[in-house]
Amino acid sequence: MTNSDKYRLLSDAAPGELENLARRVNASPWRQHYHIQPNTGLLNDPNGFVYYNGQYHLFYQWHPFGPIHGMKYWYHVTSNDLVHWEDMGIGIEPGGQFDSHGAYSGSALAAEDGKLYLFYTGNTRDKDWVRHPYQCLAVLDQRGHITKQEAPIIDAPPPGYTAHFRDPKVWNAAGCHYAVLGAQRLNQTGCVLVYRSDDLHTWSFIGELETSLADFGYMWECPDYFELGEKGVLLFCPQGLPAEEDRFENIHQAGFLIGEPINPEKPHFQHGSFMELDRGFDFYAAQTTLSPDGKRILIGWMGLPDTTYPTDVHGWAHCLTLPRELIIQDDKLLQRPVKELELLRKEKYTASHTVQDAKIQLEEINGSSYELICELCMEGAKKAGIAFRTGDTEETLLYYDADSKYLVLDRTQSGAAMKNDNGSIRRYALDAKKMELRLFVDQSSVEIFINDGEAVMTARIFPAKDSNGVAFFTEGGKATFDALQWKFN
Ligand code: FRU
Repeated sequence: MTNSDKYRLLSDAAPGELENLARRVNASPWRQHYHIQPNTGLLNDPNGFVYYNGQYHLFYQWHPFGPIHGMKYWYHVTSNDLVHWEDMGIGIEPGGQFDSHGAYSGSALAAEDGKLYLFYTGNTRDKDWVRHPYQCLAVLDQRGHITKQEAPIIDAPPPGYTAHFRDPKVWNAAGCHYAVLGAQRLNQTGCVLVYRSDDLHTWSFIGELETSLADFGYMWECPDYFELGEKGVLLFCPQGLPAEEDRFENIHQAGFLIGEPINPEKPHFQHGSFMELDRGFDFYAAQTTLSPDGKRILIGWMGLPDTTYPTDVHGWAHCLTLPRELIIQDDKLLQRPVKELELLRKEKYTASHTVQDAKIQLEEINGSSYELICELCMEGAKKAGIAFRTGDTEETLLYYDADSKYLVLDRTQSGAAMKNDNGSIRRYALDAKKMELRLFVDQSSVEIFINDGEAVMTARIFPAKDSNGVAFFTEGGKATFDALQWKFN
């Protein structure tokens, strides 16, 4: 595919092209039931997540024409409850002088003038295909109309940094506005830069956020800084970290640092070690916002850059994760599915079994769109767990391995295969006899919340439509399962 094919605008669509694509997409067996997904083409990062004017607004990176990273739009959805989302159509359209090759990621801030300010990176390429990033502004007014501002608010990276300079996340503190941006130093290492503004239009560079990670990946994308409890939290996505024993196994990482709140005027961050936000396969570019009652809510992209997926052949790729509430307890970051997700619950089924060296198929508990809460108690078994989305030859496994003390998510037999460059097993070290596993299963994904939010494992899976079984199994001894399922419609 040529660059001019990849960077087409919607106005360049051939007659009937998008309708034909939509037909292919709608016939895909892996369309989700309750996750945000693109109507056609590719979705990536969540952008501009904010509560404004009595509603949640959320945008996402969108390439309309197919499952490729080409021209990016901001696509807009709104919600009253974080569960049911209304399709608002295109938010920011690229193609201007300062965003000729895409309206890249960014954030939103509700301003005192009653308007919503949308900060994004204008991606441009010159005739020699050299990248020139601009940080741009668009304003959404009370009537829902979005106007792009003519000139960029930041027209180049500061000296000492490359053109990998993007993804502004803006917040208010001490009477003015600050932004963190993802950047790359000239020595090809990633970092975060801090800017300030008094009026949201004029921005000045304060400096690099000093951390103890001087050489930690070649680029940091999608930073987010916020305070929670007494702590400062920095989210970002370092690219190019080598995999370790049971960490950093995805192609790029999405994680966080917890530390002392920063003074953005003298940006130095005293922090603990880098932790992954998700211990599964498909998670990147998370962004947070505050709910009206002061909760910190996170949504991520359930996908990864530079990775192909089985839905590609149907003309679409990716979805967003469910919203998670972030909590800090004993200096640890917990992530819990937002309470509003209970709105999805319909019929309820329960099952309790003690299983000894067997696999028992459950009768009423099944399906492809549900929440399953299971308390697993190891009573001597070497391995015990749940097989779900099971069919004749397919199953996705979540089990505890008592010898290695790992909780294991195995999608080796889940269905249509991912190109498994990064393996089909993820492990989370857990030293426990008893654990709570809370699964949100959709047509082509699972999100697993472990022990009320101490860790999350997320995976896209691509089973056949009728692979809907659920089973409990143990090997080498006994375990008890107490399960509760809520089916969703
Ligand atoms: C992260 C990212 C961002 C960029 C956007 C482009 O996935 O690469 O850094 O702004 O996607 O779609």
